[in-house]
Amino acid sequence: MDEKNLDDMIAAFGLDAAELHNIAASFRYDIEAGLRGDEGSSLRMLKSYVGLPSGDERGEYLALDFGGTNVRALRIRLDGEGKFEILKKVAKPLYVPGIYDFISSEAEATDLFDFIAGIIDEAIEEDRSRTYCLGHTFSFPSEQTDLYNAKLIVWTKEFATRGVVGEVVNDLLAQALVRNGISNVKPAAVINDTVAVLLAGAYKKNSVYVGSIYATGHNTCYLEPYGGQAKAPMVINMESGGFDKIQINRYDHLLDQRSEMPGQQRLEKMVAGRYLGELFGLCLNEALSLSVDGAFSSVDLSEILSDESQDLIRVRNLVQQHLQVIVSEAMAGKLQALAKALVVRSARIIAATYAGVIWHREGNCPGRQHIAIDGSVYEKMPYAAAALQKALSELLGGETAVDTVLENGGSGLGAALAAASACGSEA
Ligand code: BGC
Repeated sequence: MDEKNLDDMIAAFGLDAAELHNIAASFRYDIEAGLRGDEGSSLRMLKSYVGLPSGDERGEYLALDFGGTNVRALRIRLDGEGKFEILKKVAKPLYVPGIYDFISSEAEATDLFDFIAGIIDEAIEEDRSRTYCLGHTFSFPSEQTDLYNAKLIVWTKEFATRGVVGEVVNDLLAQALVRNGISNVKPAAVINDTVAVLLAGAYKKNSVYVGSIYATGHNTCYLEPYGGQAKAPMVINMESGGFDKIQINRYDHLLDQRSEMPGQQRLEKMVAGRYLGELFGLCLNEALSLSVDGAFSSVDLSEILSDESQDLIRVRNLVQQHLQVIVSEAMAGKLQALAKALVVRSARIIAATYAGVIWHREGNCPGRQHIAIDGSVYEKMPYAAAALQKALSELLGGETAVDTVLENGGSGLGAALAAASACGSEA
């Protein structure tokens, strides 16, 4: 492997100012086309049937957070004035290698929802003495007709459980609760995780109109102030991971071809944690003439990027462990630069989509505001948050009034706020 090839590979993940600007402009175009219902838009622009909270919601609610490899059930008390308390939290993985797997194409909806019902029962400590109003953060593209009715359009993030696509997810949940003798828990609202993050951010702070997830998956929603397809004001889940007016390189193409759904979720496959490690692995396969599948995760990328040792020993050990190949210090340096290029590209693409939303909402001179973001990549991946903020300044002007803010755990709080909206405050 010569270093020149690696330099070319790193360059293939570069994104200059002009390309960044183009992505932002075509993203805005697709937002507006999507709102008009034009077939050509790659953004689903899904209605959420919820607006922003007042900040004064009160009462005890159940929140279910289902959207990644861990499912969580929480009992939350909203205290108004942007305050809340988590009274109980239960979290379990949906997949434990060699033990159980509720997310593969072998898994059935009934088993998945029975498992989730069990987690909810733990969150209420098997209490049957009162009725619980449940808000459900369901982080997959869903077609809604009201706050309760959300049908899964398609699985993403490589989920593939049978019997869920096309179904009303809250019906599947309600049936499982009844099957398991937990009839006092009433699913009342379903929201996307981006919507949950936006609601949570807006509950605590004024001037939050955009919510986003930058984690295993990626997506963004915003408060649509204008008419169009949505009756204003309503939060719109853009399903921005599906955006496809974006140049891909041959590693992106390879990854797409090997994924559960080739041709779909183009942007998500370039930016989200579920795919960053895999992209890195595909590049290394080419660089080192190997064919090792799924060797790297985004946690490995994070590990590679945080190695500040002189001889890059952690990078070299990690490559040796995963690929049984010994790399020189110089090569380890190049691999670190490749990992950085992947992460920086990811953050710049996401920043371009935020700029597209902000131009759509407010034109070229946006007011002071915060974009609420939740997710492990934004929170923990070296370079991600800084590259995102820098690209936002490049796009919106150096003195930009737009900041990003971590809304940690927004999925649970947002679900409780959606439940309050469906069942009424002080439930
Ligand atoms: C889903 C979105 C979700 C995002 C973040 C994507 O794969 O399609 O609905 O918001 O992941 O979890």
